[in-house]
Amino acid sequence: MTVLTARRTRWGLAAAGGAAAAAWWFGDKAPYPYAQRGLLDIPLPYLTCGRLDEILRPRPGERILEIGPGTGLQSLHIAPQLGPEGRLDIVDIQPEMLDHVTHRAEERGITNITATESDARTLPFDERTFDAVYLVTALGEIPEPDQVLSEAARVLAPTGRLVVGEFFDRHWIPFSRLHRLADASGLHLETRHGPTMAYLARFHPCHRNEPVPSAP
Ligand SMILES: C[S@@+](CC[C@H](N)C(=O)[O-])C[C@H]1O[C@@H](n2cnc3c(N)ncnc32)[C@H](O)[C@@H]1O
Repeated sequence: MTVLTARRTRWGLAAAGGAAAAAWWFGDKAPYPYAQRGLLDIPLPYLTCGRLDEILRPRPGERILEIGPGTGLQSLHIAPQLGPEGRLDIVDIQPEMLDHVTHRAEERGITNITATESDARTLPFDERTFDAVYLVTALGEIPEPDQVLSEAARVLAPTGRLVVGEFFDRHWIPFSRLHRLADASGLHLETRHGPTMAYLARFHPCHRNEPVPSAP
């Protein structure tokens, strides 16, 4: 083997290794590891709780669903705003995350959070159950985000709202893609705050102005 061939072979192997690593890095859809939970408590630029309030506008008495709460950075901020008559449901595929949020809520005397272990692609709730649904840096991590959006649309009240927050990490969903997926799930864009690399966007069901069918 000549020196040139040996170099080419080395470069070829390095390139193939890099491509395989990139495919794994961007294609990996494993849930966020609980062992790295400490990082979840660091607020991300543009995705602070204050900005979530501005776009979600939680009100006392509402029933809201959070998908993928992680360690509860947003849950523990939103639940108290719903008051004793309101309720925050949280669903996560990892029971450790739910236990973590529940424990932190107990420590703070927050009693209106209900945790349910579930895959967000098949939500265990009836149609039109929630006044609002939100997910922050969770949608891109879940395989088949279109299925999650369809489920969110299904469980939302006709006057409800969906807020999605995405950040530029390896699971990031660019805003243009989210907009297309939401449209296909019957969700209309109302507003977006922040640049495409770190945004919060609010949608509402397309059928919100249609009359609710009466029970048979
Ligand atoms: C990156 S963490 C975001 C946590 C939190 N929203 C935040 O911003 O700090 C994503 C969360 O989504 C959850 N998750 C991943 N796949 C899921 C699925 N298929 N169904 C429900 N939750 C899922 C993970 O377990 C994790 O708690």
